[in-house]
Amino acid sequence: MGTTITGWGSALPDKVVTNADFASYLDTSDTWIVERTGIRERRFGGSTAGLAEQAARVALECAERDPATISYLLLATTTPDWTIPATSSALHAALGCGGGAFDLNAACAGFVYALVVADSLCRTTPGTNALVIGSDTLSRVTDQRDRATAVLFGDGAGAVVVEHAPGESLIVAHDLGVDGSAVPILNAPIGGTIYMEGREVYRRAVRAELNSITAVLEKSGLGPEDLALFVPHQANVRIIEAVNERLGIPMEKTAIVLDRTGNTSAASIPFALCEAAGEGRIKAGDLVLLSGFGAGMTWASAIIRWGVAGPQA
Ligand code: UT7
Repeated sequence: MGTTITGWGSALPDKVVTNADFASYLDTSDTWIVERTGIRERRFGGSTAGLAEQAARVALECAERDPATISYLLLATTTPDWTIPATSSALHAALGCGGGAFDLNAACAGFVYALVVADSLCRTTPGTNALVIGSDTLSRVTDQRDRATAVLFGDGAGAVVVEHAPGESLIVAHDLGVDGSAVPILNAPIGGTIYMEGREVYRRAVRAELNSITAVLEKSGLGPEDLALFVPHQANVRIIEAVNERLGIPMEKTAIVLDRTGNTSAASIPFALCEAAGEGRIKAGDLVLLSGFGAGMTWASAIIRWGVAGPQA
C-alpha cells in the first residue's frame, strides 16, 4: 500500500522588495546581495495562515478534493501566527477541513519532515489523505535594519495533497536529522528577531546537505542521473552550487526560485516544487530529490515519486 501526490499550489504576497529598496537605507548594494546570495527580490506581507490558505486552496482544487474530506492538515512553519493555539487550527477552520491538524516546526527543513510524516500517516490506511503545507512569514521576525539578515528572507507558502493509493509510497527514501549544538548560531527568541552567524551556518549547511543527500541516494540505490529534478532549500545559490558540484547534480536539473523569493524557510521547497510542476518540468512517475536545512540545525532529504498527471488546468 502506498501514497501519491494529487495536487499542489503556492502563494506569495503582493509586495515586492528589491535589493535597491534595501540599498536605499542600508549599507548594502544590489551587487553584494546578488554575488553573495543570488537573491534579487523577495515578497513581504500577509500572515502564515493567510498565505497557507491561499496555497492550500490551489492544491485542493488541483486535487479536486473537498476540504471537508481531508484527514490530516500538517502545517510546517517556524513563524506561527500565535503561540497558542497552533496556526493550523485557524487554517483548518478557514479552509473547512475535516480531520486533525497540527503545526510542525523543523525550520527550513519543515516541509520535508511534514511530507514524511504525512506519507506514514496515509500509507497504511485506505481512504486517508493529508494536506501538507509549508508557510512562513520571516519578514515579521527579521530586523529590517540588520543588513546581515534583512536582505536574505521573504514570505510565502507552498502546499501539496497526499493521498493513500495502491502501489508504492511517494517517499522512495528519506533522511531526517538535527544537530542541536547549532542553536546558538541561528535563532530567534520568542518576541525577538533572527540572529545568525552566516558564515558558520553556510559551512554547516553545505556539510549537512551533502551528508543527507548522500544518505538518501545510498538508501535508494539511485544516482543523480536517475533524478528528473533536484529541489533544494532556497537560502543561497552558492550553497546550492557547492552541493551540486560535489554530488555531480547539474544546475539545469535544479529548481531555483530564490532570485525572486529570497529564503522563505519551510515554504521554499514546496514553492520551488510547485513552480517546477507548473512549468511542466516534472511529470507523473519522475523521481525528484528534495533537500533542506535550517535552524536547529535541522536537515531533511527525500527522494519522492511525483504523482499528479500534469500541470493543473
Ligand atoms: O535557511 C536558513 C539558513 N541560513 C543560511 O543558509 C545562510 C547561510 N549563510 C549565507 O548564506 C552567507 O554566509 C551570507 C549570505 C549570510 C553572508 O555571505 P558571506 O559570503 O558568508 O559573507 P560574510 O558573512 O563572510 O561577510 C562578508 C562581509 C562582512 O564584512 P567584513 O567583515 O568583511 O568587512 C559583512 O559585514 O560582508 C558584510 N556584509 C554585507 N555587506 C553588504 C554582510 N551582509 C552584508 C550586506 N551588504 N547585506
